[in-house]
Amino acid sequence: MAIERTFSIVKPDAVGANHVGGIVAMLEAGGLKVVAQRMLKLTREQAEAFYSVHRERPFFGALVTFMTEGPVVAQVLEGENAVLRNRELMGATDSRKAADGTIRQKYGTDIERNAVHGSDAQETARQEISFFFTGADLASTAR
Ligand code: RTP
Ligand code: MG
Repeated sequence: MAIERTFSIVKPDAVGANHVGGIVAMLEAGGLKVVAQRMLKLTREQAEAFYSVHRERPFFGALVTFMTEGPVVAQVLEGENAVLRNRELMGATDSRKAADGTIRQKYGTDIERNAVHGSDAQETARQEISFFFTGADLASTAR
């Protein structure tokens, strides 16, 4: 099994509702380890750049407004098949359709306010990690 890293965000809805600890507990129970973590409030420019793949989508403006409404917690997670494992733990994009026992089912509300972001592939994970973290942030856990 390959040990990988993925990138995660606890979104403003879940931070605002005080669910950071609950979400980290579910990630840890699911076999992932937090190896870097920081809280920040995204600027509009950062949110637009981070989600630029969606810039032509009808929900883009609302998504950027949501992601900038309050602080987020950006995380690097490590574990076996971390990208896929995190997506499993998160559940479906629409919290109303997410399976029982998933983070989005427990802490999200709908298709937009869905508590967490997770990278969708190893290459995007690398890009997203470097968007938020420097080599120095990860030096103590270098691999
Ligand atoms: P994420 O990138 O945040 O991990 O979510 P995802 O892969 O499950 O879903 P994606 O299609 O990449 O969408 C990114 C985020 O945009 C918001 N969204 N709103 N109103 C809508 O129809 C809609 N669709 C997506 C969600 O916050 C989603 O997580
Ligand atoms: Mg996505």
